[in-house]
Parts: sequence; C-alpha cells; structure tokens
Amino acid sequence: MTVDDAARPWWRDAVVYQIYIRSFADGDGDGIGDIAGVRSRLPYLRDLGVDAVWINPWFPSPMADGGYDVADYRDIDPLFGTLADADALIAEAHGLGLRVLLDIVPNHTSDRHPWFVDALAAGRGSPERLRYLFREGRGRGGSEPPTDWESVFGGPAWTRVLEPDGLPGQWYLHLFAPEQPDLDWSHPEVRAEFEAILRFWYERGADGFRIDVAHGLVKDPAFPDLGPRLRAPRAGDPRPHPHWDQDGVHDIYRRWRAVADAYGERPFVAEVFVSHPERLARFVRPGELHTAFDFRFLKAGWEPNRLREAIDDGLRALEPVGAPATWVLSNHDQVRHVTRLGRAAATAPEAVLPLGPAGTTLPVTGPSDLALGRRRARAAVLLMLALPGSAYLYQGEELGLEEVLDLPDELLQDPAWMRSGHTIRGRDGCRIPLPWTDGASPFGFGPPGSEPWLPQPAGWGALSVAAQTGDPGSMLELYRSALRLRREHPGFRSDGMTWLDAPDGVLRFQRGDGLEVVVNVTADDVRLDPGGHRVLLASVPLDSEGDVLPGDAAVWLG
Ligand code: BGC
Repeated sequence: MTVDDAARPWWRDAVVYQIYIRSFADGDGDGIGDIAGVRSRLPYLRDLGVDAVWINPWFPSPMADGGYDVADYRDIDPLFGTLADADALIAEAHGLGLRVLLDIVPNHTSDRHPWFVDALAAGRGSPERLRYLFREGRGRGGSEPPTDWESVFGGPAWTRVLEPDGLPGQWYLHLFAPEQPDLDWSHPEVRAEFEAILRFWYERGADGFRIDVAHGLVKDPAFPDLGPRLRAPRAGDPRPHPHWDQDGVHDIYRRWRAVADAYGERPFVAEVFVSHPERLARFVRPGELHTAFDFRFLKAGWEPNRLREAIDDGLRALEPVGAPATWVLSNHDQVRHVTRLGRAAATAPEAVLPLGPAGTTLPVTGPSDLALGRRRARAAVLLMLALPGSAYLYQGEELGLEEVLDLPDELLQDPAWMRSGHTIRGRDGCRIPLPWTDGASPFGFGPPGSEPWLPQPAGWGALSVAAQTGDPGSMLELYRSALRLRREHPGFRSDGMTWLDAPDGVLRFQRGDGLEVVVNVTADDVRLDPGGHRVLLASVPLDSEGDVLPGDAAVWLG
C-alpha cells in the first residue's frame, strides 16, 4: 500500500541525521563544536538529503557525561552558544526544509541542577528530597547501599551523601554516573516540570524529541535486590526488572503524547532497550510515543539470518500497533559500524554497557579490516535505507569514519573509563570531531590553528567532505545518491516489504511496485537476476552485464 504523500506524517519514513554537537563543527575555534558550527553546515545537510536532524543535549551542563547531565533544561550551555543562537538554528533549518529534534533527558538531572542542590541542603525527610530517590542505607549505621543495583558505568548505583550536619546520611540512586541523580517519577512536580519543558521547546520551534533512557524512568517501588542473575541481564530474559522497562513508564508517555499532539506532528523517538520486540512495541502503541529505536538491527552485525530475523521480528511486533520501524546502524554510544563490520566476529552481541535487558555497546577490542568494514558499511546502508520506516544516520558515517581506538588514556572523557576502573575505554572513539576539508587537523572542523577537543587521526583528510565530494566511488556520494533515490522513488513510501527467493546468505525483498533490493551478506559472488529491472544504485561497481552481485554488496533495482 502506498499512502498518499500529503496525508502521510513526515516522521513515518524520515531520515534523521544525528548531530553530536561537540564534534560536528566548531564555529568559535575553542576546539568544541557549537551551534554556530551547525548553522554553517546546515546547507551540507540539506544537500545530503536528510529530512531532519537530532541534536544531542545542548543544555547547560557540567559535562560529566557529555551533556547527559543537565543542569537547566531551558537554556543552552555557553560552550555551544545561547538561546538566541538556538532559535536562529531552528529557524534556518526550517528555512532549508529540515526539521529539528532535540534530546530530552528525563531519567536523571545533573547533580548541579537546582533541585538536587536544594535536596542536599534541605536534608532528610524534606519535600526537596522527594523529587529524587533518596533512601536510608542498610547494615550498621546505614553504611551499605540500599540495594545491590549497579550503575551502567560501573560501580554501585547509590552514593551516600553528607547531611547538612556534616555526617554521612542517606543514599541517592544514580543508574548512570554519581553526577546524574535519578528523578522520582512518581512525584507530580517531576511530571509537570518535564511536560512544561517539552512545551518550552515546542514553542521555540522544536519538531520533536529523542527520549534518553526512555525505559528507565520508573522503578519498582519495593526496591528489590537484583540478585546475581538479573545483574547481568540477557536479551530475551522474560523476568521483570526493577529499574528497566517497568510498566509504569507508559503512563508518562501517554501524557507526553497528549502534550505533543497539541502542537501537530512532533514525533518522539525513544531510546529503549527491552527484552523482546513486543516490549518495544508497547512504547509505540496508539496514544503513546511515535517511534522507538530498534537496536536489534544494529546488533545483528553482518550475519544474514540475524539481520533477517531482526527485521522480521521488529516489523511483526510493530504491525498490530501501527507504528513504523526505526532503524539505526551507529550512534554516539556505539563502536562505529565500519569498525564493527570489519571484525571477524562482526556478529558478537556482547554488551559492554548494560543499558537494559538487551544490552547495548559492543566490544571495542579486536582487530578490524577497515576496507572490509567500509565495503560492508556501504551495503548495510543500502539495506537500512530500503527498509520500511525511518532511519537514523550518525554524523560521520556518511564519510565512512572508523572508530578511533588509540586515543591516549589521559584524553579519555567517557565516565565509563573512570567508573570501570579503567577497564572499559568507553565511547570517545566514536565522538571524534568531523573532518570537513583535506590537509591537516582540524580539517575544517574549526578555524585553522584551533585544536579539537579530541585528536583527529592524521589520515582523516582523505575521508573529509571536501575529499569525497564529486568522487562517484566515495561513501559520501553513495549516501547522497541513496537519499536522493529514496525521496524520488515511490517504492520507498510503501508500507511493508515482501521477501523474495534468494540463495543462502542473500536478502532479497520488494517494496511497493517495482522496487527490489538485493543484499549479498556472504563473501562470494552470487548470480543476480535483475528480473527486468534496471540497476538504480549499487554499493560496488557491477559488471556491464549486471548479472553478478559480488560478496558483501547490495543493489537497488527498479
Ligand atoms: C545516552 C548516553 C548517556 C546515557 C545516560 C544514553 O543512553 O545515549 O550517551 O550516557 O543515556 O544519560
């Protein structure tokens, strides 16, 4: 079925470009990306052919976790600019036909948020403490944490505070760093405040929100221990978890949806890690959120059966609730997929950061064949962009950037590095400032002579936007062509897909009338029967007959 374009909400099949603002473009030369930098590169994003951008948190923050520790949800951190700059960015993006999604962080605030500062000062039993999760400790004198819960970044999820009298007292919960105290979402003021924050940004023109840790807001009020088994959750574990995916979160999102609907089509996209696709679908039931990332696709690596299963299970679970799928290959928390797909164990599903029952971040170790990784990445993006639903691109993937694995220890900033006792290097390697021009660092990321906050590999000039532009074999031109075709060809606007017969290890499917997609997830050539179609786009050059699809390659036929 092809839905009439005019009636189709824009977000159902949007391609959204994720801007990790610290590392996108630096307008003022302090080495840190900012709003001025983003504004200067908006035409690049329009020309790339995306529909929208999602900007990682840009609010005032002590930056204990790259801005996911928000001290004021209604302003902009001076590192990035001012509210007036944000208004200008939103207006300019709209002028270019780009929508702007922001990143809301409702599970926790910064420990410098006025609410938390007040809670510490006000002491035990005060109304100020009730907005967070303060509890008495266990054991002698309350010296043990209230539960055995662990922080996603390592170590206990509880920190003991000094009471106003200077003595050790209560503990507060932080599922992430100690600088990120968890809010108590059973508190009406917490609920009202976030609804007001949503409205604040809608009024300023925000077109929607990505919701950080959307599955974590509600905790089991009994605060049970996890015990050894639940502490290392596994995908598919059916047991309820006391702080992930509690049923109570849905009530919050039904309210948020009503707030959003008052402003028109302003989609949410939820970051959700759950045990089953059916649990994911609950977040996008009618009256709840619009979309939620399906990370099983990202975690399927380069293994045909896992890819097909992730696609099928994801679509099947969403069908009854009528929500579109949301695909993604990389983001600011994951090892860049060029590096992942270049590994022998490109399918390794282990989690490094236990962000929920299905885990998330993949291991940052193991050699990677980057040429193979890039070849597969080209095929993978043609697969992703041909699936029904929306897709998210992480800045730099259109350049084929790899994970930077050799950052000096002293430069690592991810709290996971400190909190894991220097065993988990963390996510800095996927957050390196982008190369825009050839030559030497900063490669156009900032003005000549400026020093990016993380060092860029010397070879990244060859991967820069300038170096790839106009080179028909480059990753960037592949993305541009794919995004253009995705807009032009009506097959991409059809709901659903139909699998077609294909040899082992090959995924072949049809979208609408006349669009076919073939992905060879093996290392060997396969015979390609174009069935009367012509080649619209291929991830590798095809021979002149067009009847062979080489290994690790994909083609769109139409
Ligand atoms: C974000 C991370 C962040 C964490 C805590 C997420 O899942 O994507 O970057 O560290 O939430 O806010």
